[in-house]
Amino acid sequence: MRVLSGIKPSGELHIGNYFGAIKQLVEFINTTDDEVIVMIADLHAITVYQDPQYLKERIYELAALYFASGIDYNKAIVFVQSDNPDHPYLAWLFDTVTPYGWLTRMTQFKDKRQKLKNYGDIVSVGLFNYPVLMAADILIYDTDLVPVGEDQVQHVELTRDIAKRFNKLYGDTFKVPEYKINKTTARIMDLQVPTRKMSKSEESTLGCVFMLDPIDVIVQKFKKAVTDSGHEIKFDKQNKPGISNLMAILSAASGKSLKQIEEEYEGVSYARFKQDVAEAVVEVLRPIQRKAKEFLADPSQVDAILHEGAERARELSYPKLLEVLNKMGLYHHG
Ligand code: ADP
Ligand code: TRP
Repeated sequence: MRVLSGIKPSGELHIGNYFGAIKQLVEFINTTDDEVIVMIADLHAITVYQDPQYLKERIYELAALYFASGIDYNKAIVFVQSDNPDHPYLAWLFDTVTPYGWLTRMTQFKDKRQKLKNYGDIVSVGLFNYPVLMAADILIYDTDLVPVGEDQVQHVELTRDIAKRFNKLYGDTFKVPEYKINKTTARIMDLQVPTRKMSKSEESTLGCVFMLDPIDVIVQKFKKAVTDSGHEIKFDKQNKPGISNLMAILSAASGKSLKQIEEEYEGVSYARFKQDVAEAVVEVLRPIQRKAKEFLADPSQVDAILHEGAERARELSYPKLLEVLNKMGLYHHG
């Protein structure tokens, strides 16, 4: 079975990304017999403007943090989307079989368009076309399974429709993929506003712990985390969102159950508890940071891994692209 996972390099990674996505992907790759393709979706990132220097840094950082988190890049194929031109090529071909109306129904597009309009930014054709490129990413590898967040389900459903439509028009060519919704076992909330999920925010980053934050910054962020009235360490999302979030983080970082934590911290002060949460997170991040910094200090090593990944990816995608060109009656030599 072939599994494809795509990640957008559009922001700095935080512990929500780590406990909610990266850790699970690493565990999956390291325990499965399936063939796993991990794509850094930079062509999707630029559907809203990215500063070129910032984007390039994010791509390296994403790769370094994933490798440092334990992704076995000899086993999985890890590459950058823009390093395989077969994707945007197939996306163009798919553009010609995708009804305009299908794309106007995409809720992510509608949401993002509204946000951009509110900021007075342009809404690019690329943003509209985003799901067609995603269909190309998936279908070009005859992918069986796509693990996605809830927000991407509609795009995979569109991908299935595009595959079926192409197959009907030009003969059986593409596998119709399944998707699996990532379970959100660890939904990490903002340390300052624990009713909102942790996310890279423009105004304040005090509530967001980035994977590459210096250790003393991480400790400070936990020290300043908002808690709740009372003084009990008890899991109660409704009435104690701050403490419950810190407990969830401690649980994700230490492997201890919420019940265990409640018992262990009976009678312990909030201040002391927060210190322990910080320590547990630091313990997880310290070795990852150390390895990530080694990768970032040696970009040629990262390049070599990504280059090898792109070559392996292209060996799979190019024959498929040729098959499609043939079926559509298009010209190519060789
Ligand atoms: P967002 O979901 O905020 O747009 P990304 O798209 O960069 O962030 O998320 C990448 C992955 O990290 C997704 O699988 C998403 O579910 C996960 N993730 C992001 N934020 C959190 C969070 N606060 N808690 C748990 N998982 C998260
Ligand atoms: N659009 C996905 C996201 O924002 C990223 C992505 C691009 C992707 N191509 C993909 C995910 C192919 C799965 C398969 O998260």
